[in-house]
Amino acid sequence: MTLEQIAELESRTLMPTYERLPILAVRGEGCFLYDDRGKKYLDFLGGLAVNALGYNHPEIMAVLRDPSATLLHVSNLVYHAYQGPLASRLAALSGLDLAFFANTGAEAVEGAIKLARAYAQRDDAAASNDRFDILALENSFHGRTLGALSVTWPEKYRKPFEPLLPGVEFVRLNDLAHLRQSFSSRVAAIIVEVIQGEGGVVEVDGRFLEAAQQLCRTHDALLICDEIQCGLGRTGRFFAYQKFGLEPDIVVMAKPLAAGLPLGAILARRRVAEAFHPGLHGSTFGGGPLQCRLALKFLEILSRTEFLRHVRDIGEYFRRRLLSLQEEFPVIQQVRGEGLMLAAELAVPGKDAVRQGLEAGLLFNCTQERVLRFLPPLIIQKEHVDQFTEGLRPILDSILAAQPKGAHA
Ligand SMILES: Cc1ncc(COP(=O)(O)O)c(C=O)c1O
Repeated sequence: MTLEQIAELESRTLMPTYERLPILAVRGEGCFLYDDRGKKYLDFLGGLAVNALGYNHPEIMAVLRDPSATLLHVSNLVYHAYQGPLASRLAALSGLDLAFFANTGAEAVEGAIKLARAYAQRDDAAASNDRFDILALENSFHGRTLGALSVTWPEKYRKPFEPLLPGVEFVRLNDLAHLRQSFSSRVAAIIVEVIQGEGGVVEVDGRFLEAAQQLCRTHDALLICDEIQCGLGRTGRFFAYQKFGLEPDIVVMAKPLAAGLPLGAILARRRVAEAFHPGLHGSTFGGGPLQCRLALKFLEILSRTEFLRHVRDIGEYFRRRLLSLQEEFPVIQQVRGEGLMLAAELAVPGKDAVRQGLEAGLLFNCTQERVLRFLPPLIIQKEHVDQFTEGLRPILDSILAAQPKGAHA
């Protein structure tokens, strides 16, 4: 079937939730995606931060093809050999203690909110029954299920589904006074992305994060770090919160964890995690044997000497290339981000840049209308960055040319 035929079929058979790019993906290799016509795209979208090792990584494919991998699914009613080792590896990397495995980011966020409530309502808690408020940050994104949506900022995502969870309050980003004002004995947790991904690659201030942690301690509330997009090597650290020496009570992760298959995880401190007991939470598919094996391999690769240094170095190289593009093309208002979670905010809508990128064989997306977001595989090399930034040049040129003279000087 051709792209046009598939698109026509989907328009009659799928719920209209996605605006797809006009690519019929058939194959991937390293940092490149190929369509049905054999066109090659340098993929700096990375399956929305899932394909951290690119496509067809030989060690990941070896796990998939291993003849001993006969267990695709067993349910959480029995043991298998991989959840325990994966939990212990994640605990060692994060500094937290106990894990729960889910499938997606939103499911991990849901579980984290439930855990925070269970902890607030635990038998020996000093708090009364009214400790269930959750603080979130303006400009946040935590997922599409009802609980995760309740702590997600953009009104356009939330409004059609109200009423959502009661007791959610949004704190103004990096506003210490508002943060202090928002805490009370009713607050069970605050959830933060150290770098807001969907929000446009916006870095939260270290002082603000430290104050949030301190306020949590004072009020016996929990600090939840959502590392679904910024975690697991993306910023050149295992977790983005490690940059500030934070010690969150709960961390949620997903996207690249099983190198392309769905797997999410909640990590928590022991005293918090023990608010769960058998029967209080669960997931049929969560932590399946194949996903856990893939995740163990992914973490092994991430932990190799030089892997994260490479992410930091190549990320810095890419950032500098973007900064020199900014000097040349003032239509770029700001370059932001860290490691390989980078963005260029334009003075104009970015949709056309994405379209022109596709024509030129470059894949990236635009968030918040004007923010070009780059989430390439962590294995990119200088030649990929050079090819990408050189490819951006004529696109920026044409955008600049289309602007009224002097508009962005
Ligand atoms: C920070 C963050 N949290 C949660 C989610 C939701 O993850 P999922 O789409 O796997 O449910 C996302 C997805 O983009 C995200 O970026």
